[in-house]
Amino acid sequence: MGSPALLSRCLVFDSGIGGMGVVQALRDILPALTIDYLADTALFPYGEQPDDRLTGRIVSLLEAACRDVQPDILVIACNTASTIALPALRERLSIPVVGCVPPIRWAGRISTTRTVGLLSTSATARRPYVLELHREFASDCRLITHGARGLADLAERAFLGDVIPDADVERELTCLFEQPHGEDIDTVGLGCTHYTFLMPAFQRLAHPNLNWLDPAPAVARQVRTVLETLAPITTDKVSAPPRLFMTSAPFNAPRLEAAVSRLGFSEWSLFSPLALTA
Ligand code: DGL
Repeated sequence: MGSPALLSRCLVFDSGIGGMGVVQALRDILPALTIDYLADTALFPYGEQPDDRLTGRIVSLLEAACRDVQPDILVIACNTASTIALPALRERLSIPVVGCVPPIRWAGRISTTRTVGLLSTSATARRPYVLELHREFASDCRLITHGARGLADLAERAFLGDVIPDADVERELTCLFEQPHGEDIDTVGLGCTHYTFLMPAFQRLAHPNLNWLDPAPAVARQVRTVLETLAPITTDKVSAPPRLFMTSAPFNAPRLEAAVSRLGFSEWSLFSPLALTA
């Protein structure tokens, strides 16, 4: 395992449970890492919020959370937050911040038809950040995006164990593949961390032989790379159990707790700093 810093404490952030896919990927390669999780459920879904509301909110929420939780590293396991707030967070926080952005570079590396699809929230789909990724890393590919309104919510339900009707997922896939040149897509990037939990449905319902790209394992590897550069940390920091914070009470706490228990969280607690901009 190498560096003692791999024993560190990490805070993973998302608007909801989407970042739990990144938590799983972190657990797979960094079993000694202590992971706390913050979900801004009071403002879920981020994908339907105006940009000017999100940046200030995310920065003040995470400043308060980092003061309380004292992580060694922060992971923004949310494309909608990363594509708008990463520079501001890195400016304000003194710890390393690892983001999660749509896997357009990866898609550009492997697409043979040079036509790639991106499924994301509607907020991420309209971000200049996505255009920059396309221009910089996959400019010779046609990029077809679909900003989906309902998928993050379906993913929340899938995570809790609901059976999601195929028709609801198919409706969103149709919006991607029935765009002009959609039949040429051979690679689809997941541009929203929530969609990890719908991957089995995507693979079953879309036409076969597509490459589906989930960036969660790559985010975990980047966390490991950053941790390897950190100084050793004190062990008392990692002795406290992993904590799960939410900015509003879950609709069905027992069901949520049952679902997150497989990722090592035993109960949730409310996190609502008074200074938070709504
Ligand atoms: N999980 C989030 C993402 O990666 C956002 C979902 C939402 O709140 O709309 O974009």
